[in-house]
Amino acid sequence: MDNQDWLLVSLWVHVPFITAWIGLVMLDTVAVFAPGLEGVQRRRLLLWSRVFVLIAIPVIMATGIWQTIENPFFRVEAYSGLKELRDRTLYGDLLFWKHGFVLATFGLTILVRFILAPRLPSEPSMGMSGGAATMEQTATGTLRLVQLATVLNLASCLGAVLLATRMVAELH
Ligand code: HEM
Repeated sequence: MDNQDWLLVSLWVHVPFITAWIGLVMLDTVAVFAPGLEGVQRRRLLLWSRVFVLIAIPVIMATGIWQTIENPFFRVEAYSGLKELRDRTLYGDLLFWKHGFVLATFGLTILVRFILAPRLPSEPSMGMSGGAATMEQTATGTLRLVQLATVLNLASCLGAVLLATRMVAELH
């Protein structure tokens, strides 16, 4: 297996993982905006894929870095090479801006799953006594934050895919 064979294997891993990643963000969108769901149901829909997220981030990073090293223009073996790829090719400049969207979706996905979703109610709301009403207000506030983070996450994924598509168009 030479470097080009490993590049093919890397793309065969990168593309399914980023597709699943975007699928998860779309599922988040349903989980946080679908009418008629209780907070506890939204919480469960956001939390179940935490293990996948912890596996997907290093896999996407590792394959992305290998594809960057083995890019179609010249082999990048140091940070200076990455800067040269960006300065000398549109592909390299697009990849630089794509990283921005990638870091955004990684950060927002971690924020939603590990910080905000655990704050959503873990018990179904039973009627509206004093304490429950306050909890409901907090839950609504948290839900608004999760909805905002999810919309930004969807936009970040779209940005990464549009830039990656433009990168690949450079190869034709
Ligand atoms: C959620 C995050 C990511 C998304 C949505 C994403 C999306 C994509 C897509 C759609 C492609 C095009 C595949 C093709 O048709 O060739 C691609 C290729 C690529 N990605 Fe990513 N990617 C992500 C993360 C990363 C990261 C973290 C890196 C770098 C560290 C990276 C570097 C690359 C490179 C170099 C290519 C190869 C393009 C080529 O030469 O064919 N990607 N990515």
